[in-house]
Amino acid sequence: MTTSARFWPIEEKDIPGCAEVFVEVFGSEPWNEQWHAVDAQARLEEMVHTPGFHGVLAASDEEMLGFAMGHTEQWQRGTKHFYLQEICVRTEHQRCGLGSGLMHVLCQDLTAMDVEAIYLLTARDGPAQAFYERLGFDANPGMIMMGKYLDERGTA
Ligand SMILES: CC(C)(COP(=O)(O)OP(=O)(O)OC[C@H]1O[C@@H](n2cnc3c(N)ncnc32)[C@H](O)[C@@H]1OP(=O)(O)O)[C@@H](O)C(=O)NCCC(=O)NCCS
Repeated sequence: MTTSARFWPIEEKDIPGCAEVFVEVFGSEPWNEQWHAVDAQARLEEMVHTPGFHGVLAASDEEMLGFAMGHTEQWQRGTKHFYLQEICVRTEHQRCGLGSGLMHVLCQDLTAMDVEAIYLLTARDGPAQAFYERLGFDANPGMIMMGKYLDERGTA
């Protein structure tokens, strides 16, 4: 790792800084999304208020470098799963091991919370897929993601 960082659990006060990183990262390649700061902050505020929320922040002495966050979900036989909703690392600090560091700390925390599995959505064949595969994640051959935009009347 060429970027030195400290890792700690995310609290609500960290959300504005996370939103700033989020806008920068997802507005860049390969995502090129059009996030306004107010929307990014609202999205991350929703997450931090979701029951079972857990997140990890990475920062140097000077700046926030990245974060990972999501929430636990009750699963069968009394077990819990974790939905990883967002992970991002400042563009200029990517490929320095920070994403792996965030996932390592997150997985340690989740193991201590008796979570038995993590799942997530990402772009097929994108760079993030390579990142997750390197960490031992597999694409589930039996599942697909489905979605639908609603018209004004919300008809099916
Ligand atoms: C995905 C992301 C969180 C990974 O964090 P990172 O700090 O860059 O990743 P690491 O340095 O820990 O990478 C570990 C390994 O994952 C793989 N990997 C990471 N980024 C990759 C990329 N862009 N292309 C191909 N493989 C990649 C590599 O095997 C890498 O090891 P190497 O650098 O020794 O080859 C970060 O690149 C990021 O914020 N990307 C934009 C946002 C994003 O896509 N988030 C996930 C949305 S679901």
